[in-house]
Amino acid sequence: MQILLTRQEIAAAVERMGKDITRDFAGESVVLIGVLKGACLFLSDLARQIELNATFDFIAVRSYGTQKQTAGEVQLIKDVTTPLRDQNVILVEDILDTGLTLTFLRKHMLQHQPRAFKIAALLDKPSRRLAPVKADYVGFEIPDKFVVGYGLDYAERFRNLPDICILEEGGQE
Ligand code: IMP
Ligand code: MG
Repeated sequence: MQILLTRQEIAAAVERMGKDITRDFAGESVVLIGVLKGACLFLSDLARQIELNATFDFIAVRSYGTQKQTAGEVQLIKDVTTPLRDQNVILVEDILDTGLTLTFLRKHMLQHQPRAFKIAALLDKPSRRLAPVKADYVGFEIPDKFVVGYGLDYAERFRNLPDICILEEGGQE
């Protein structure tokens, strides 16, 4: 597979995002909420670049559609267990594509009345957006290609690739 982003490029972007978060929340604490399963690797690396008191939690959603794209219906399958009221919440997501998942999650998280709510997305495909949602911290804007690796899957495979690769077209839909 063709590499789009090397592990070194990913590490540099994650370091930059961690520094930005550290600066923006200086003197405060943050709750990092990873969207399972894709954001697991990103969250674990990002957390180590944040020099603040940080706690973790995880949330999981199911979205209907094909292996490659969300159909629009998003369902919560695992909620957070941490109280988020008056906390600085950073939702950590692998990729922002149509925006339907994050629109759903943003609404859900805001019901918990956090003090601040920010979105950190490693990847952003702005050309694919159907819902108006923006990430506050973005690693890379990428073209409209289906990518795998570093947590991102195709039918649950390839999450463990250390680099982010472009999945070749052809018969995999
Ligand atoms: P959205 O709701 O369309 O923004 O989709 C977000 C979710 O779709 C992500 O959390 C991923 O699970 C999945 N996704 C979107 N694009 C890709 C991709 O290029 N590779 C792997 N998963 C993707
Ligand atoms: Mg996925």
